Amino acid sequence: MIHISSRIKLCVAFVILNAGVIFAGEGMWLPQLLKLLNEKEMKSMGMKISAEDIYSVNKGSLKDAVVHFGGFCTSEIISPNGLLLTNHHCGYGQIQAHSSVENNLIKNGFWAKTYKDELPNEGLTATFIDYIDDVSAKVLQGVTSSMTAAERQSAIDKNLVEVKKLYTLESYQGVIIRPFFDGNQYFAFVTTTYRDVRLVGAPPESIGKFGSDTDNWVWPRHTGDFSLFRIYAGKDNKPADYSPDNVPYTPKHFLPVSMDGVADGDFTMVFGFPGRTNEYLPSSAIKQVLNTLNPAKIAIRDKSLKIMDKYMREDEGTKIKYAEKYATIANYWKKWIGESLGLKKSNALQKKLDYEAEFQKRLAETSPHKNLLSDMDKLYSEIDQYALAADYYNEIALRNVDITAYMSALRRLVTAYEKNGLTAYNERIEDVKSYSNDFFKDCDPHIDQEKVGALLTMYVDNLGAKFVPEFLQRESLGMSAKESYEQMAKDQFMQTSFTSEKEASRILQLDPEKAIAAIKSDPMYAFASEWSAFYSKEISTPYNNIRKEIDLKQAQYTQAQMEVFKEKRFYPDANSTMRVTYGQVNGYEPRDAVKYESVTYLDGVIEKYIPGDYEFDLQPRMLDLYKAKDYGPYADKSGKLPVCFIGSNHTTGGNSGSPAIDAYGNLIGLNFDRVWEGTMSDINYDPEICRNIMVDARYILWVIDKYAGAGHLVKEMKLVHPKSNTKKVKSKSKK
Ligand code: ARG
Ligand code: GLU
Repeated sequence: MIHISSRIKLCVAFVILNAGVIFAGEGMWLPQLLKLLNEKEMKSMGMKISAEDIYSVNKGSLKDAVVHFGGFCTSEIISPNGLLLTNHHCGYGQIQAHSSVENNLIKNGFWAKTYKDELPNEGLTATFIDYIDDVSAKVLQGVTSSMTAAERQSAIDKNLVEVKKLYTLESYQGVIIRPFFDGNQYFAFVTTTYRDVRLVGAPPESIGKFGSDTDNWVWPRHTGDFSLFRIYAGKDNKPADYSPDNVPYTPKHFLPVSMDGVADGDFTMVFGFPGRTNEYLPSSAIKQVLNTLNPAKIAIRDKSLKIMDKYMREDEGTKIKYAEKYATIANYWKKWIGESLGLKKSNALQKKLDYEAEFQKRLAETSPHKNLLSDMDKLYSEIDQYALAADYYNEIALRNVDITAYMSALRRLVTAYEKNGLTAYNERIEDVKSYSNDFFKDCDPHIDQEKVGALLTMYVDNLGAKFVPEFLQRESLGMSAKESYEQMAKDQFMQTSFTSEKEASRILQLDPEKAIAAIKSDPMYAFASEWSAFYSKEISTPYNNIRKEIDLKQAQYTQAQMEVFKEKRFYPDANSTMRVTYGQVNGYEPRDAVKYESVTYLDGVIEKYIPGDYEFDLQPRMLDLYKAKDYGPYADKSGKLPVCFIGSNHTTGGNSGSPAIDAYGNLIGLNFDRVWEGTMSDINYDPEICRNIMVDARYILWVIDKYAGAGHLVKEMKLVHPKSNTKKVKSKSKK
């Protein structure tokens, strides 16, 4: 194992301005650079711990309690026995997988009474960051500004291989190297991944998903969006495959839970794995998002959601089958609507144009960057039609329609077999079988068929003939000019073997050669494969060629912005690596005469209650506890039970399940969303109206203890009173 010197080159990006203003909010910072870049400001905002308490390679620190959950969400350890807290919507796939009409965990919730009752989840992982290295110099060695996109990429790829070789790792460790500032810097993250992660507890959806899609991305919010898991390890506390003999993991650090709650102005920090932001784009890219891509994706998902919704409301089994799929599709559908609205309302495009004019003005006459923006503008107009077609294809064939996605899984098997023979087949077949099982568990062919008919019609009607393969054109199918693809979908679903679970599993049990022949002669497989081949030739290849040029220009543009705007503070865009963001508990004013408070209470849950409603129903127990005001020690000073709160922390998708941490390093909440007016923050962060939404830790404790009667889980945690006890805080409570 090597430790590349962690002394940081003082790149312009990191020049800290000694501004008197508090920058509460904007920025997603690398934990190992906090000491250099942020500690002073964080302390001035009220933080009482040090940067070394947050990230250290020498001792247990907060970073050792923050865990990448399944690679798509964040979670944190909240007990000495590896108890893991994340969102309900992050654990939703697992909660759904353990549910049936007879034993519906989504509807009724689930609470393991003992370790033995905790439910294993195949494939679910929990990843820790062991340490982070700056590897920029090594990765960018030999890279020059005169290189073409292809030359640059190939030089970097070669270097990456060499840098990875410098790490000697255990079998359960990995090293992830990611570009920062659009490729101007590189950091390596050494990880340890646990593979036995079990479901411990989940509230019923009337709490964990209260308000569902109507309330999603919206404040004021009243959702108890949490679930509990536990990491299991081998006897040596190291990662191990699932085994009944595994034991609860003993963490290097776990987060104590604050019982003291939050008040306006309190320091907050959110620690997690934000997925993707794009704060340094040119105006041409924003134009494309606003005018071309968001409207198309919204329209496709709108159609797909309406079809699912119709069937889900009719039947509980269908509701379970589609629960997770629907929620995932609905989530970004709504996000894009909010993002477009926000970009328009905040004049994001004009702001960028003004910024670009200033950029241009400040460049020296001889600057090599003089034509950067106009070059990018040209490239964005060139890529526009391909970007639209790519979104259409990916949204339909891979995200919204299940049968075509299933066919791609089969295609990977066929390709592997044809390229590398039996060994490759055997390596893949088990995954394909499990994909196939999931497909039949979570898909109703009638619903899927309706989606194919409706979405293919949109594809053909809205994309130029250039992007419609001949076999899909109405003329070649003998269809009339406006005819929908409903009948075509029907015929295809009739002819394929892969809508019958029995037939599919028969084929996948055959000898490899026969199985491959059967797959290849299936008409649905042939259709999906031809479409995919067309996509690759006519859409993704030209798209990627232009994209490479754009990426190269973007790398130059980001660097140029950092050189030109010396007074501006730059932070790297999110890229699914570990980050810290910090701010304060804070309400906001979205428009004239409207002011949002920062905390919601159980009273608001009751206000929203609609008996029998799909999204706002409550269970009788909730109403009883509310009537009795049975809040135990979890109410705040006013005697009310807090539910959610907002703050000025800069978060994005992937930050779901991130801990909200107080000035002392204790858990005060669980991040799960952003406010409606701030959903544009991935492209245009505005500190006035961008807020993240967190569940109050006391609501989580109350649900576990009072609502669910699972007080044994609360006893595992360390409850603290930092506000009443400013010195070293000791575990108190336990009633
Ligand atoms: N909007 C939050 C996030 O981006 C919560 C999503 C929960 N899903 C839902 N459809 N309500 O993930
Ligand atoms: N709910 C989001 C997620 O799943 C996080 C909220 C956000 O995007 O801000 O990661």
